[in-house]
Amino acid sequence: MRVFSGIQPTGVLHLGNYFGAVRRWVELQEQAQCLYCVVDYHALTNEATGPDELRDAWRGLILDLMACGIDPERSIVFRQSDVPEHTELCWILGCVTSFGDLARMTQFKEKSKEQVFINASLFYYPVLQAADILLYLADRVPVGEDQVQHLELSRRIARRFNSRFGELFPEPEAVVGQGARVMSFADPSRKMSKSAGPEHYIGVNEPEEDILRKVKAGVTDPGLTPGQEMSPGVANLFSILELVAPPDIVSQFREQHSEGGLLYRDLKQALFQQLMEELAPVRRRRAELESSVDLDELMMAGAHRAREIAEPVLAEVRTRVGLA
Ligand code: TYM
Repeated sequence: MRVFSGIQPTGVLHLGNYFGAVRRWVELQEQAQCLYCVVDYHALTNEATGPDELRDAWRGLILDLMACGIDPERSIVFRQSDVPEHTELCWILGCVTSFGDLARMTQFKEKSKEQVFINASLFYYPVLQAADILLYLADRVPVGEDQVQHLELSRRIARRFNSRFGELFPEPEAVVGQGARVMSFADPSRKMSKSAGPEHYIGVNEPEEDILRKVKAGVTDPGLTPGQEMSPGVANLFSILELVAPPDIVSQFREQHSEGGLLYRDLKQALFQQLMEELAPVRRRRAELESSVDLDELMMAGAHRAREIAEPVLAEVRTRVGLA
């Protein structure tokens, strides 16, 4: 089993990234060879990411990942743009990708609404994502729910390549678990993400008082009659509580809710406390790592290890399609 996943360097690691992806990345390190990639070419499709921000963002992100428990000795941690095979394979895979499939991608439709200038790479983005994964013949891809459609497309691309040029790529499977869809506290109808503004995400390393403020400001409801279905905001608070609190605390709050006697203030306070307990070691390690890691050296070593896998795969692809 080989695991691959990627994350965009866009400044802040938020609870969606943490629960939806990174926490599972850490677990998978025990079970498989893992490659974790900072996808800087993908970040370039976002017009809000300027050159200085992009230059700095990967450094912070690598430290965040390490603080969460990603071990660059055990896993291969690297930057996408340090391995040119990604973009080369992307072009070739584009030739077995249907335009219609790309036009159906929900993320493209959403993101193109947010940007004034809709760049062509935003449209082509899922092909590069497929190349990221297939280049390493990866078969498991731990991601949040928002990436599942891209994973489906990666599988279709693999299938189409294999049927035209002979079996080469395994069909990569998404690994999606609890926490795969963390919603915004300020607007529980949308997923937690940075694009909607700072009130819509909680950064893993944000100052404690900001986290408390954002949790307290979380949208709930005016109080429901017993037995009524949970509103989306409350369901979101519960789903995060479940990820960080012991089961007896969760069931206690659930009981209070179903009886109609739950004070959301108490739920939020408990959630905040449990969350800070979960994040405390991450936040502490993040501060320690800042001064002790040579990131340039680490990235060079990571890219070297990644290319050891990528080069022969790309060479085979070039042969299969007739370029070599
Ligand atoms: P990105 O950088 O937006 O997010 C990184 C990971 O975090 C997950 N995630 C969430 N999970 C739960 N709830 C949320 N609110 C939430 N927000 C983000 C994402 O699902 C993702 O797993 N296209 C990808 C990066 C990528 C990639 C790849 C991933 C490029 N190539 C190859 C896997 C394999 C992205 O933009 O993720």
